[in-house]
Formats: sequence, structure tokens, C-alpha cells
Amino acid sequence: MSKNEVVETTEAQIAVHWKEEEYYYPSSKFVGQANLTDPAVFDRFSLDNFPDYYTEYAELLTWYKYWDEVLDSSDAPCYKWFKGGKLNASYNCIDRHLKDNKNKTAIHFVPELEEERVQHITYQELYVRVNEFAALLRDTAKLKRGDRVTIHMPMGPDLPITMLACARLGVIHSVVFGGFSPSASADRIVDSQSRVLIVTDAYYRAGKLLNHKFNADEAVKIAAEQGQTVDTVLVWQRYPGKYSSETPMIEGRDIFVNEKLKDHYGARVEPEQMLSEDPLFLMYTSGTTGKPKGCQHGTGGYLAYVAAMSKYIQDIHPEDVYWCMADIGWITGHSFIVYGPLALCASSVIYEGVPTYPDAGRSWRIAQELDVNIFHTAPTAIRALRKLGPDEPAKYNYHFKHMTTVGEPIEPAVWKWYESAVGKGEAIIVDTYWQTETGGFLCSTVPGIKPMKPGSAGPGVPGIHPIIYDDEGKEVAEPGIAGNICIQNPWPGMFQTIWGDRDRFVDTYFAMYNTKPDSKDWRDWPYLTGDAATMSEDGYYRVLGRIDDVINVSGHRLGTKEIESAALVVEEVAEAAVVPVAHEIKGKEPDLYIALKPGIPATDELAQKISDAICEQIGKIAKPRKVWLVPDMPKTRSGKIMRRVLGAISNKGDVGNVMTLANPEVVEEIREMVQK
Ligand code: WTA
Repeated sequence: MSKNEVVETTEAQIAVHWKEEEYYYPSSKFVGQANLTDPAVFDRFSLDNFPDYYTEYAELLTWYKYWDEVLDSSDAPCYKWFKGGKLNASYNCIDRHLKDNKNKTAIHFVPELEEERVQHITYQELYVRVNEFAALLRDTAKLKRGDRVTIHMPMGPDLPITMLACARLGVIHSVVFGGFSPSASADRIVDSQSRVLIVTDAYYRAGKLLNHKFNADEAVKIAAEQGQTVDTVLVWQRYPGKYSSETPMIEGRDIFVNEKLKDHYGARVEPEQMLSEDPLFLMYTSGTTGKPKGCQHGTGGYLAYVAAMSKYIQDIHPEDVYWCMADIGWITGHSFIVYGPLALCASSVIYEGVPTYPDAGRSWRIAQELDVNIFHTAPTAIRALRKLGPDEPAKYNYHFKHMTTVGEPIEPAVWKWYESAVGKGEAIIVDTYWQTETGGFLCSTVPGIKPMKPGSAGPGVPGIHPIIYDDEGKEVAEPGIAGNICIQNPWPGMFQTIWGDRDRFVDTYFAMYNTKPDSKDWRDWPYLTGDAATMSEDGYYRVLGRIDDVINVSGHRLGTKEIESAALVVEEVAEAAVVPVAHEIKGKEPDLYIALKPGIPATDELAQKISDAICEQIGKIAKPRKVWLVPDMPKTRSGKIMRRVLGAISNKGDVGNVMTLANPEVVEEIREMVQK
């Protein structure tokens, strides 16, 4: 083969050079208290017993009426779980706990300003507030079962109260991440046809009180231009009784919730008896192309699934203090701050602000003060905490028994810091792989049964049966070979459809491997996650990233994640991002962006050392065209590195609109450095 020849490879083939990591075993102390330790669960949850095994999950809930059928697949791949059953999510997360636990804390709310005290809201208090607000939604906003409502609120107790009040009435909520722009909010208002928008006037972020009401006015204006009228805007106040925004209230449209609630003090609202298959909420997810997709999650299946995952994978016990650092505006927050933990009567922590504000010790002070023992966050936050304060955790007296990582593949070097520094070598880690669409976990170790392996999510969780296919739909059974990870069977937590667009639902997630479009048999409808993964000998899956996150160098498909992982092995590196740059001969070449740990000077020697580390671990083929030592990575408000922006800079393209980034100013600095 001549050097210039570009080898054709199939889409799913990705060169994999990962080395197998060693197992880490859970302590006997952890196993001794774990909710799930019997390996027989994997036999009970084998495909032979599908779908009946999922009744174990449904039985964690309280039903007004039991289901007639566990799974109705007559409209496959739109499934109905626990069909005919009746329940209410708000009842399951609140009312049923009152008899034995009404004085227990449901929510610990930690304001960002440290001089503001933590609020502890008991289950009884949550019951009162949810009922009163449900009465307001029903009587003032005139919302009823089946209506959609858009919620654009920051992290605070009023957000779960709003969601649970909607659930009580059978109103379908659509929460938009607080940091999103007015136009993102407007798109979701239009798509879900919401006539009511619920917001908060202001919130703290990195020490600044942000005017959030402004976004509501803009969003309503944009939605109106697209033909959707919002007639009511409900405005919660960050400080009840005081308006903290400069944006005026609009007569006849805007209502202060805290004032109006006075008319409803003492109100009690009977929970609606919802059908299991009735939608509970919409959560929009944006793909790389097209408008955001409204993932529609059902009531019974979703709630059963997140309760089970919270119990068996998060290992939540009633006496635990559980802190998930995600934002409720993402699926992780819906499933693992609100619905899962509250269904189990846990105490769930909600933190308003930035984990490193005002300093790198903040998260650990919160953990110490509240005696948090289960901690849940994402690699991006772990990298930020490691970058700003690698030695901070040791200064605080907290002890985690359990930690989660979610949202993207975690580099083994970062995993190990998480384990030793944050977990103090005492906590088990679950690396949970899943998606907005899937409602709850797909792959993770069951912490009381299986050992951990840095960088690997683990096998399918009980009941989930993953399979790796190549582009032709042939199973890739050989360990270590990458392909498209799919799920063979449906499960209760999966979304029911894309709101208002069944065809897009089928096309995006099922069409690739379905050969019989009329089939009512679930076996004909493997679910396409859109991620590339490999399975190793032990059945553990390692997710390499989105199928499109690969760089084809001379026909050699390299996972960007593994190059980034190799860079992170270098002591001085805090964050790494790889983007493809067009190359006449090789097709593509990797350009590597690096943010160093604070105080480390950017030198040519260091850039060389990083480049060498990659060649050493992966091979010359992965050698970066250039290692750019940048002051910071451009990031979204949710902390994901904007590789698209870096890619545009590397390829001398247009970076597009970057004003919605968390740090738009850094883009210009990087552009000057690279394009000079
Ligand atoms: C990625 C977040 C590797 C994956 C719950 C997926 C992960 C996308 C992991 C979904 C993990 C999530 N290891 N990759 N543990 N968890 N991903 O919808 O590419 O925000 O498809 O849901 O994140 O992101 P989403």
C-alpha cells in the first residue's frame, strides 16, 4: 500500500488501542449494606424472562390500580409499559411517605451565597407547597390533565415543587435548562404548544445575581413570532416577597407566584389517577442536526425504572444524604435529583450555583456540612475540581460511600483521581452510561456485585441487554472491536416517542437495524444509541463517544476520546480536546487543545511531552498536528467542551455564534493563537 492511499473502513470500525485497566473491588463494608448483592438477579433478568422481570421494578411504586399487561408492543417501537395500571408520580414521591416519614428532609437547598443558610424542606412541607402550587396551576393558570407547560427555572426548591405540582394534575412538564437562551426556550414552547411559561425572577451564578425574568419576556416574544401565544407567565421570586429583576412585569400576563399563593394557602389537590402510559414530561435533546427532539417519557414505566436504578445502582437507603450535582434541567436531574430519590423517600441535595464558587473547596464544604454520603457528578465537573483544587478534598471531613460519574466517557486518569482524592479510597464508583432518551441507566456495574474498571461503564444493568453491531447489522462479538452499541430489548424507562413526530423517532433510533417495519415483535426493533463502544472479555462496555466523534487518519479511525485520555496521563494536563483538521493526504489529522493545571507555564517542551505521550500510548498514527496550550477550553453552560468551535478554529472556518457559551471571550484568544 502506498503512503498516500486512503483505506476505506466501515463507519463503525474504530481503531482501539485502550489498554485494559485493573479491577477495583468494593469494600466489604459497602457490600455489607448494599441494596443489591445477589448475583442471581442477572438470571432473573435474562431475556428468557422478558418482559415479566420488570414487574419487580413496578412493585417499588404504589398503584391505584395494577396493570393488565406488563408490555404492550402492538404499536412497536412505541411501547406501553404496565398498560392499564393507574398511579400518580407526585403521590409516589410525596404522599405515600407521609405516614412514616413526614418530618424527614426531602430537599436540602444550598444557596450559592455562603452567608445564606441551607433550607431543609421536610416531606410534609413539600406536600403542603406542592398542593398549594397545584391549586394555583389549576385555578389561576387553568391548566388541566394533558396540557403542556414550559418551565425555565434555575436550581432551587421551587423547581421540583413546580414539576411535582404538574405531575399531581397530570400536566406534562417541559423543563428547559436555566442557562439556555430565550430562543432555546421559545423553540420548546412552540414545539410543545405551551400557553403557560413558569420562570424565576433571578438566581445566583458565580456570585452574580442574574436577571432571569428577562429571558422569559424574550422567549414569549420569539414564540409569538412563530405562532405560539403564551398567555400566562408565572414568576417565582428568588427572595419571596421581593422582586429581584429589573425587567418589568406585564399586566394581565405575568403573575407573582409568591403573592398569588396566598389565595391557595391550605389548599389540597387530589392527585389525578394517571394511566401508566400517560406522558409525565418532555425533555428536549439537541442532536448535531435538526431541531431539538422532545423526548416523551411516560408515567409508570419511567417512574418504576428510575426508582429501581436509584435503589439498586445508586444504592440509596432512607438514611442516606444524596447529592447529585447535575442540573434539574437535564435528564440526570429529573431522574436522579427529583423522581428517583424522592420516590424512595431519600434526602436529596439541590445546590444553586457553581461547584467551585467561591473557591475550589466549596463542594467539599457542602458535603461536610450536610454529611453527604452519596455523590453524583460528571467527568467535566471532576476535571474542573481536579484542575482547580487537586488537594482540596483532603481538607474536609466528609465520607462518601458511593460516587457516580455520568455524561461522557471518563478518562482512566481522571477516574483514578476521583477514586483516591474525592472518594478518599473509601467510595465505590459507578460509571453510568445512558441518555436523555433512555430515562435511566443502560450500562453500569451493580456496585454490590461487580468490581469497577476505570474508563468502562460496565455490563448492561439488570434487564438491559446491549449488543454491538457493525454497519451491516452483524453482531460484533469479538472483544475489543468497536461498533455501534444497541439495546436488544425495550425497557420501562425508555422514551415513548418524540413529541409529535413518530416518524423521526422510528427513523433516528430504530430504522438502522430494523428489517421488518411492520413488525409488532420487539425483537425486530433494536434501539440504536448512536454511540460507538467496545466490549471486553468480561462483558464490560467501554463507550468511545458518539459515532461521529471519530477522526479518520489515513483510513485509520481513531476515537477522539482515547487520544484525550492519553494526553490526560501527563501530570500537568487538566483538560484535553481533540478535533479533526483536514489534511490533503491523510484525510484528517488530530489537532490537540490542552488546558494546563493552574500555575503551570505553557512551554514548547511541555507540548512536546504531551505529543510524545500520545505517540507512546497509541502510536505515531495519532500524533497531533499541533498541541495548542490554551488558557481555557470554550465550554457550554453545562460544562461540555465545545469541540465544534475548536474545530472551526483549526480548520480556519467560522466559529459561529459563541455568545451562549460560558466563556465566549476565550474563543477570540484561541483564534488569535491558532490562526495568526
Ligand atoms: C454520553 C446524559 C460514556 C453518550 C445522561 C450518550 C456517556 C450521551 C456516559 C447522552 C458514560 C453518557 N460514559 N459516555 N458514562 N454517559 N454518555 O442525553 O455519548 O445528555 O449518548 O444524557 O452522553 O447524553 P445525554
